[in-house]
Amino acid sequence: MGSLVLVPSDKVLAECVRSATSAPSLHNSQPWRFVIIGNTVEVYADPDRRLLVLDPAGREQLISVGAALFTLRLAVSRAGFASRTRLFPSPDEPDLVARLTVKGRAPVSSSAQALAAAIPHRHTNRWAFTAAPVPEAVLNSLRDAAQRERAVLTVAAPPARAAILGLARSADRWLRARPGYGTELARWTATGQDRDGVPPWATGVADVRGTMPLRDFAEASVAPRPVETFEPQPTILALATAGDRPADWVRAGQALQRVLLSATCQQLAAMPISQLVEVPAVRNVLSNAAGGLSVQMVLRVGYGAARAGTPRRPLAEVLTTRRAPAEAQPRAARGTRRARAAAR
Ligand SMILES: Cc1cc2nc3c(=O)[nH]c(=O)nc-3n(C[C@H](O)[C@H](O)[C@H](O)COP(=O)(O)O)c2cc1C
Repeated sequence: MGSLVLVPSDKVLAECVRSATSAPSLHNSQPWRFVIIGNTVEVYADPDRRLLVLDPAGREQLISVGAALFTLRLAVSRAGFASRTRLFPSPDEPDLVARLTVKGRAPVSSSAQALAAAIPHRHTNRWAFTAAPVPEAVLNSLRDAAQRERAVLTVAAPPARAAILGLARSADRWLRARPGYGTELARWTATGQDRDGVPPWATGVADVRGTMPLRDFAEASVAPRPVETFEPQPTILALATAGDRPADWVRAGQALQRVLLSATCQQLAAMPISQLVEVPAVRNVLSNAAGGLSVQMVLRVGYGAARAGTPRRPLAEVLTTRRAPAEAQPRAARGTRRARAAAR
């Protein structure tokens, strides 16, 4: 029999990390680092890339890292490997968010294939969507995606949508008035040459009626922002978790990315409206309405034209590959019982 590889090479894992870096992040801050050591990938939060004004607790940073972690897990499955992930495996290292360990070969399910195929096509869409409603079956599939990552996705009932958008506009005004907010937004408004931040081609348009609370990256640039008429009845989703600790934020991020990729598979566009969860009083209102669950993210979804992606930092800037300790090698090479059986 030809050589059956039981553990992925560094090159395969590096490609999985490359996929992980295409995850969404607050203002495209890409606040992560990865270390490959033998058959493990460690995922770190980068403290220098936290948005101190908008995200003082680092909650959205961990949501972003969680989104990257889900993408990494998915890419490893697509490469044909089973893996196990531990969150915050080392109490002494709070920035070490997760350690993914490859457990050996595993067949790729068709659903993982489909979800992984959506990774390069998922982009935040800040343009108007059509008025077409999102079918219940599609919404159910998104609810299911969240549940698989131990989160709860709620679809706002039509009468609540206007109220939620009203709250989001108030939150947006409150944030803009906060000292340092504009400077931070300008830091993450990219010129087009940058490898992080939101570039001019992704800032979208303004809502002619002023109803949709768009994050105004364009305000920091010189170009006037074009306007469009946004959908009158946007579909608004709230993603929540039972707890509200750092591990819950990472879980929320994994759920967010599973929901977004699942939406992409079904030609659905999405835009986070995170102003709602950046003002504690507003977040509390939403969490109380969600029956005491902690709302972690709010999304608008609908049907819209495909949009271009945003830049990412080169892999060499975020990835380090270290030699595995000698004693770890034979263990890794042994693979799982199932993989050994497959090799026979
Ligand atoms: C935690 C989090 C919060 C976000 N909040 C907003 C937001 O309020 N408004 C917005 O337009 N985009 C928001 N985004 C989307 C990011 O700006 C976007 O992911 C990033 O610019 C990279 O672009 P991409 O999603 O097209 O890859 C958020 C993303 C994450 C992960």
